[in-house]
Amino acid sequence: MRNLLKVSDLNKSDINLILENTNLVKKNIGCPYHPLAKIANRKFMANLFFEPSTRTRLSFETAMKSLGGEVITIDNVNNSSFEKGESFSDTLRTVAQYADVMVLRTKHKIEENLTEIPTSIINAGDGDGGHPSQALIDFYTIRSKFGLKEDLNVLFLGDLKYSRTVHSLIKLLSNYNYKLYHRCPNNRKLPISLRKFSEDAEENWTERILPKMDIIYSVREQKERIDDNIFNYAIKYGLKAVNLNMIKDSAIIMSPLPREEEIPVWFDKDPRSVYFEQVKNGVYVRAAILMQILELDRLN
Ligand code: NCD
Repeated sequence: MRNLLKVSDLNKSDINLILENTNLVKKNIGCPYHPLAKIANRKFMANLFFEPSTRTRLSFETAMKSLGGEVITIDNVNNSSFEKGESFSDTLRTVAQYADVMVLRTKHKIEENLTEIPTSIINAGDGDGGHPSQALIDFYTIRSKFGLKEDLNVLFLGDLKYSRTVHSLIKLLSNYNYKLYHRCPNNRKLPISLRKFSEDAEENWTERILPKMDIIYSVREQKERIDDNIFNYAIKYGLKAVNLNMIKDSAIIMSPLPREEEIPVWFDKDPRSVYFEQVKNGVYVRAAILMQILELDRLN
């Protein structure tokens, strides 16, 4: 696997290896004597973020440094030659000369011709396209809660048109036997190519669908993508009006974060809320992705 541009770049054995290495990293991260601590010695990762980020950028950086690698960053693309009118592809070709891997977040969908760039690229979110490393984090979190069990009901809730993390996670889960449902505003439907994988949870979803869900994946309204707010979003398409008693004891509530009001802060103390666990898993999973992309030897 040279690039991670979309979920379909991953086959099941790539996914299994990443999950295995994630466990290895999780167990040994921070141990200065473990070979993992130096495995990326003299390797350089470039962070190139053309859109805001907290978790993705910092977790990739933490992951690379935990493996003993170096990180270079353009902190603010407006501070780079991009601002002088340099083309996107020249900017990438330039950074490719310095780095072994580039972590790239863009405002628009990434074009396939990026594969001509001589350095590996990880898509860290491309507009309303995908976010494959987040899907791997989400999948790892699901597996760490439910193991290999796949007869599970998963509900995607919110702005499913513009939420790239949902797009990538649905694509990934569609390779397995999970039963997927969705609930979204009419003008925030999933992209057509993804609709066949999940069933619509209708108006009375809180009574009919919610109580049987094992995994509830809630996303914020992607206001930066469209200038048209949804009335009562957090109540109608989020969990704001949901009583936790309506949700199975064994269920988990997930979010890629950031959140607005669609997940009330008082959910945070409930052990079923795992969104900050997803954040933590981000470092381990992204270290495992870097190991795979940089072809660092597997350690046991
Ligand atoms: C998401 C993103 O940037 O797509 N955040 C993340 O990377 N964890 C979700 C979002 O912005 O809503």
